[in-house]
Amino acid sequence: MLNKKTLRDVVVAGKNVFVRVDFNVPIEHGTVTDVTRIDGALPTIEYLVEAGAKTVLASHLGRPKQAGDPEYSLAPVAKVLSEKLDMEVLFFPKEDIIDDEVMAAFEDMKPGQVMLLENTRYDEGEEKNDPELARKFARFADVFVDDAFGTAHRAHASNVGITEFVDQSVAGFLVEKELDFLDGALEQPKRPFVAILGGAKVSDKIKVINSLLDKVDKIIISGGMAYTFLKAIGYEIGTSLLEADQLDYARNMIDQAKEKGVELILPIDFAVSKEFANTEAVMTNDENIPEDMMGMDIGPKSIELFNQALADARTVVWNGPVGVFEMPNYAVGTRAVADTLAKLDATTIIGGGDSAAAITQFGLAENMSHISTGGGASLKLLEGAKLPGIEALTDKE
Ligand code: 3PG
Repeated sequence: MLNKKTLRDVVVAGKNVFVRVDFNVPIEHGTVTDVTRIDGALPTIEYLVEAGAKTVLASHLGRPKQAGDPEYSLAPVAKVLSEKLDMEVLFFPKEDIIDDEVMAAFEDMKPGQVMLLENTRYDEGEEKNDPELARKFARFADVFVDDAFGTAHRAHASNVGITEFVDQSVAGFLVEKELDFLDGALEQPKRPFVAILGGAKVSDKIKVINSLLDKVDKIIISGGMAYTFLKAIGYEIGTSLLEADQLDYARNMIDQAKEKGVELILPIDFAVSKEFANTEAVMTNDENIPEDMMGMDIGPKSIELFNQALADARTVVWNGPVGVFEMPNYAVGTRAVADTLAKLDATTIIGGGDSAAAITQFGLAENMSHISTGGGASLKLLEGAKLPGIEALTDKE
C-alpha cells in the first residue's frame, strides 16, 4: 500500500539517523499534559537505539513568534522522553538550534545515543522550507526517517526540504501505521463503511464530505455542522451554529448522497440551551429547536438512530465530536458514540484532534483500532489529498 521505503528497508546500525517527529504536544506550566504523540514515536526511537544508530530528533512546537521564546521550548518534552527511554536524551535549549556546541555534541555521540534538537520553528527557515536550513538538518543524516505523521500535510525544511539532501528518506513506524489504517480504510474498507463527521464547521469539512461520498456506505453528519444541514432542508434551528453561505452546499450534498446510494444521516433530536454554557440540558422532541435556544448535543433518539446505523458497520472513521463534549452536560452524545464504537466488531479509526481528545478523556483509547496522532494530516487524507511529507520520501524499488 505505502509505496515508500520504510525504516525496515534501510540499514541503520552505526549510522547517523535524523528523525522528524511530531512533538507538538500540549504543555502547561512546563509540563506535558498529553503524551500520546511522544508515545507514538517511541517504537521508531527504541528501534534506532537498539540498532546502535546515532539518533537526532527534531520537531516543531506551537507557533513561536521569535527564536528562543521559552514558552515554546521542547525542554519539557526532552524530560519526558528521557524518562520514557530510561536514558539521557541530549538537549540544548538554544535559540540557534544547530550552533557549534550542538554540532560538537553530535560529533561526540556514541551509537545508541539520542539527541533532541530545540524547536525547529525557532529558525524562520523551517516553515519557508529553506534549502539552507534543510542542508543543515541533512548533516545529521546518513538516513532520514520521517515519523511526524501530524506534520505530513506541511512542506517544511525538516520534513520535506531535507529529503533533497539525503539519499535515503524513509517512513518511520508511526507514519507507516497511520497510513496503513487511514489509507487502508479509504482504499479497501471492510463494508459497511460508515463515516461519522462532527465538529463545528461545514466549511472545514467540505472536501472531506465530497471525497467520502464516493467511498462510504453511510455518513453521519453531526456536531455543529448538522444545524446548517437541517436548516437547508427546512427545520428550525433556533440560535444554533449556522453557516448561511453553506446552505446550498448542504442541499447539494444531500442530493448527491441520494444519487450515489449513500445513506446520509442527520440527528433527529437535540439537547439545547439558551446560552453556550454547561447549563442543565433540555431535550427537543424532534429536529426543530426553539427560536431562543441552541443545539449543544444530540438527544436520546439520535443516539439510538446512530447506534442502529453503526450496528452492522465493519469499518468506521470518526472525525469530530457530535456535541460540545468539553461541557459535561453536553458530552452525553459524544460519549455514547465512543461507547458504541468501543463495543463494535469493526475497524474503528479516530481522526486526530477533538475526537481523539474525547476518546482519551473517556478512557476508551485501548478499545479503538487506531487513534490518529494527526488532526490536520488525517483530515487531508480523508479529503483524498496527497501529503507532501509522505510524497517526498524515497520510493520503494
Ligand atoms: C498539528 O498539531 O496539527 C501539527 O503538529 C501541525 O501543527 P501546525 O498546524 O502548527 O503546523
